[in-house]
Order: sequence, then structure tokens, then C-alpha cells
Amino acid sequence: MTTGAGSVPATTDLEDLGLDTGGHLLVERALAGLPPGDRLTVTGRHPALRIHLAAWCRAQGHGFDPDDAGSLVIVKGRAGEQRWHGAVRAGEAAGPPLRQADQRWGLAARGALVEAGGPPIGAEWADRDHVWADVAPRLYAAAAAAAWDPAAAVDWSAATRLPAEVERAVVQLMTYLVENEQAALIIPARLLGRIHPHFREVMQLLAAQAADEARHVEVFTRRAQLSGGPLGTSSAGGRASLQTLLDEPDFTTASFLLSVLGEGTFVDLLRFLHDHAPDPVTADVTRLALRDEARHVAFGVAHTAHAARADPAFLGRLRQAVERRHAALLDTAGLNGEVFDALILLAAGSWAPGAISRGWQAVQRLQQVMDEGRRRRLASIGFPDGEAAELSALHTRNFM
Ligand SMILES: [Fe+2]
Ligand SMILES: [Fe+2]
Repeated sequence: MTTGAGSVPATTDLEDLGLDTGGHLLVERALAGLPPGDRLTVTGRHPALRIHLAAWCRAQGHGFDPDDAGSLVIVKGRAGEQRWHGAVRAGEAAGPPLRQADQRWGLAARGALVEAGGPPIGAEWADRDHVWADVAPRLYAAAAAAAWDPAAAVDWSAATRLPAEVERAVVQLMTYLVENEQAALIIPARLLGRIHPHFREVMQLLAAQAADEARHVEVFTRRAQLSGGPLGTSSAGGRASLQTLLDEPDFTTASFLLSVLGEGTFVDLLRFLHDHAPDPVTADVTRLALRDEARHVAFGVAHTAHAARADPAFLGRLRQAVERRHAALLDTAGLNGEVFDALILLAAGSWAPGAISRGWQAVQRLQQVMDEGRRRRLASIGFPDGEAAELSALHTRNFM
């Protein structure tokens, strides 16, 4: 292509290249440097060049002005310019997301130049403070790096034959864990589809979290099946407790109830199960889940603290969410009694009365540790100590 000032016309030579086999790239490249109204002479030997160029110019909004001598001239139109009139950048790709995402950006990448028009995304949460935490990009990177393979990360061949009653206790605990993990999988999966994609790191983090929970469901199910017996029981009260989490409609309150209070408490439970595991497979699966849960809790705490800093009145709404859940579960049994007994037996290690006594005390201590952890996390979000203690005491007996 040659372009010139004044009367020297711009030209581009396609040689044998057809406009329909890539020649349009050369024509567009030549036109890009010209203002609307300028002329571009196209030369080439392709037999259909004249017909194709006439059709292409009509479709692209350019004039076509061939002369009798066979010279093919395009007069650049304004359509390209008009197409990007009103286009806006959807924030910065590398920078933090904007405070408010525009529904009209739809699925455009953060930082893209967004052509006007196109369908709005209709995302429920487009306000940064409602879903964000500054730690989200780092937590997502950590989650992606820490993903483990259930087939390789657990030495399934290390399964040992346990006394029948201890094995039954482990199977009961695994049955309970699977139920809780299924709730923990569904909730982030539901939330992430309602977030504006401008906050992509939160979507990515929730997707990684759901994938973590999918692995937890797998390894706990697999441990429960190792000895070939039937699974344990599922209590109505336990499921009622989890159902209140599934029914929570708001992002921040759902994240608070699930991750800060529920998964926060579960971290202590998993550590207890790991410390008292009677076999290496149980020790492995609880250790692996514990590592992931620590990240889930970290996001819940960071996001809830972010939301409370942006709007201190939010603490009142979180308090109401805890009270509402407590009231909804008042008439339920809370923790499955068989799960509670299984925890005692695991910590006891034998049926000797002295051992059972020590197991019972260990489960009492576990509940204290859970309470202290909840109070600490509630305080870090911004609740005064007294209120943190009150709210922790209202937490579901089902742990999650
Ligand atoms: Fe989990
Ligand atoms: Fe989790």
C-alpha cells in the first residue's frame, strides 16, 4: 500500500489474493489510515475481485467507484467511525474493578472497548462493595495453585481395618460431612451466576471454591465406602440447618453465614477429625479439606469486613441474619445425635469408661474452640466483643 499527501492516491495491491480468502484484511488495513471520504485504489488479478469488492463495500458502508479503465476505487465511508461512537471502556483490565459495573457491558472483558448496543447482563449484584474483597485475586491464584487430585493426594491403599464400631463412627461422620459439603458446593455455585462479570476474580474464586467442595464430596464419600458397609444417617435437623443457608438470598449474608460462621466452625471440626483420625485415609481427607476451607473462610471474613467498612449499618443486617436463622432452627434438634456420639468415640479411641470420659471432654473442648474462633472472626469483621459472643452463641448446633 502506498499513501500520499495531496493528490497522490492510496493504493493496495492484492496480487492473486481473493477478497473472500483474506484479501479484505489488506483492504481494511489500507483504509484504516485514511479519513472518511478519501479514496483507495485496489489492484489485483483475482477474476472476481470487482464483484466481491462492490458487495463488500455495500456491506461495510463504503462507496465503490470503479472507472471504465478497470481501476477499482473505494471511497471510505463513516460506518466504522459511527460503530464505535459511544463505545466505552469497561474499566481497566489490570486495575481494581470500578465501584459500579454497568449492566450494558454485558459479558465484555474488564478493560474491553464496549460497542454500544448489545443485551444487558441483568446481573443481580453490580455494586463492587456488595461482592468484593481486595484479597480475592490473590485467593483465587492460591486456590488454582493448591488444587489437588483426589486419586493421587490420598493414599487409598493405606486403608486399615478398624474395629467395627470405630469404622461405623467414621462412616457416620463422613455421611454428615458429605451432606454439609453438598450445601457448601451449591451455595457458591448459585452466587457466582448472579454477580456482574466485571468482578471476575470473585466469580473465579467462587468457581474454585465450588470445585474444592466437589472434591470434598468425593473424598468423604469414598472414605465412607471404603469398608463396603452402608452409609450413616442424615438427620432432619441437620438438613434444616443447611437449608436455611441455601435459602439465604443476599450475597453478603450468605457468604457471612456459610463461610464466616459455618465453614469457620467446620475448620475446627476438620482439625479435630484429623487429630483423632483412626486411620491414614481419614487423616488425609480431613487434612486436604481443611486446607481448602481455610481459604473459603478467608474470603468470607475479608468480604464481610469490606462490606461492613463500606457501610457500617451492614453489621446490623448481619446480626439480623444470625437471629433469623436461629429463630428458624429453634424447634429443630440441631446436630445429628449420632454425629455427636461418633465424635466422642473417635476422640475416646476405646469403650473404656475413662476413655469415653476423655472423648466427651475433648468434644466439649472442641465446641469451646469453635466458639472462640467464631468470636474472633466476628470481632475482626467489626462486631464489639460482647456482641460477637452473643452471635456466636446463636450459631447452629449443626456446626455448618
Ligand atoms: Fe468443603
Ligand atoms: Fe468450603
